[in-house]
Amino acid sequence: MSSQLPNSSDLPSSADIPGPEQLSLRYYPDPILHRRCQPLGLPDDNARACIGRMFDLMYEHQGIGLAAPQVGWDARVFVLNISRTAEEAGEEWIFIDPEIEVPADLRGSLEEGEEGCLSLPGIRLEVDRHHAVSVQATGPDGEPFDLQADGLLARCIQHESDHLDGILIPARVSTLRRVAVRPALRDLEQQWQERENRP
Ligand code: NI
Repeated sequence: MSSQLPNSSDLPSSADIPGPEQLSLRYYPDPILHRRCQPLGLPDDNARACIGRMFDLMYEHQGIGLAAPQVGWDARVFVLNISRTAEEAGEEWIFIDPEIEVPADLRGSLEEGEEGCLSLPGIRLEVDRHHAVSVQATGPDGEPFDLQADGLLARCIQHESDHLDGILIPARVSTLRRVAVRPALRDLEQQWQERENRP
């Protein structure tokens, strides 16, 4: 993954970063959900304000994780709070430019679990994920950190990390399961098209 990242001279300038007030929830099939996001590098005050806005939107929509492209921000950033409530702020996690690895001894062990996605309202899918992952990322203070996670936290990290590469949950399931949600996906496509066409 890291070999494909641009070097620091290719990082977006602050002019490419939207203000927090411009961020709003994006729904399938918005094009920003389908592309590989750019590294953020060291966060500045505006980036931190955008991250704050992501938490607001996540709680507002009762999510436990949210990735920057889901709010229209092309950046390798995601936030999590698996306790689901703003009151449990101690449970908040912020990952900037994360690198995910699966411990070598656990690579074969996949676990099935139901997932939803704020960008795919009404769709639930059983998705196979690794039981445990290790993450290296930058925190909101610009400091790097490492995290070992398993269970639900590891599942969320894998889901949100997929968003940074333009991968949504229907792409992670068998054809049979994908076919089952096709009508729901078509409805979302239609709703999105109607919103786009609105003057
Ligand atoms: Ni999602």
